[in-house]
Amino acid sequence: MKIVVLTGAGISAESGIQTFRASDGLWENHRIEDVATPEGFMKNPNLVYQFYNERRRQLLSPGISPNPAHIALAELEKQGKHEVLVVTQNIDDLHERAGTQNIIHMHGELLLSRCEVSGITHEARQDVTEEDECPCCTPGARLRPHVVWFGEMPLEMERIYEALSDCDLFLSIGTSGNVYPAAGFVAEAKAYGARAVEINLEASMTATQFDEHIYGPAGTVLSEFLMTLP
Ligand code: OAD
Repeated sequence: MKIVVLTGAGISAESGIQTFRASDGLWENHRIEDVATPEGFMKNPNLVYQFYNERRRQLLSPGISPNPAHIALAELEKQGKHEVLVVTQNIDDLHERAGTQNIIHMHGELLLSRCEVSGITHEARQDVTEEDECPCCTPGARLRPHVVWFGEMPLEMERIYEALSDCDLFLSIGTSGNVYPAAGFVAEAKAYGARAVEINLEASMTATQFDEHIYGPAGTVLSEFLMTLP
């Protein structure tokens, strides 16, 4: 079976990373417009660097590790019975730490920064500041977070749509269905005949488009669901 799994912030919640729309529309006490838009970066680059530096430090702190939901997906891929592609909206690396290999980070990655001139990405495991220069240009150019902000095009869309048009099962885990194009993936997969299953704490914005719903913490209910697969 070909399986496309779309994951959102909810899959990392049990690892201790706060979701975006937890309560009050703020992301870790910041307005999304200030820290997740090109305009915000233009207006106050230091605030944006500092914000992602904090997210990165949190991600790399000893207390943060993959939870049973990340691990269950990695094991599904490793078993080799099914062809599994994980498309994540998350910028953390918890899927990879759990062992997932076939993955697309459609909203970018916290542990990479990107040269503003060449577009080349560089590993970023330490704080990044406005003074840092890329190693790929002479003279060195400014680095920005390798994160897709509102108003920017998500990454690898062609590959994603190709997989959606050819999958038997579309599984959405821990996403509120507020942000497009990811929120449109269920309609796309269904148009091509896939079975669509939603795993979330509560009904998402796109819940009515799914064939089945499993409501509960992903760390518990995902592995139970995967055991029902042929
Ligand atoms: P949201 O924060 O909007 O939604 C998280 C969803 O996960 C909610 O529907 C929660 O009910 C659910 N949830 C929370 N804990 C869960 C758990 N333990 N098990 C299962 N589900 C749980 O996050 P996303 O939908 O990922 O974009 O947000 C999409 C995009 O909006 C993000 O990638 C980001 C953001 O702005 C960019 O930065 C471009």
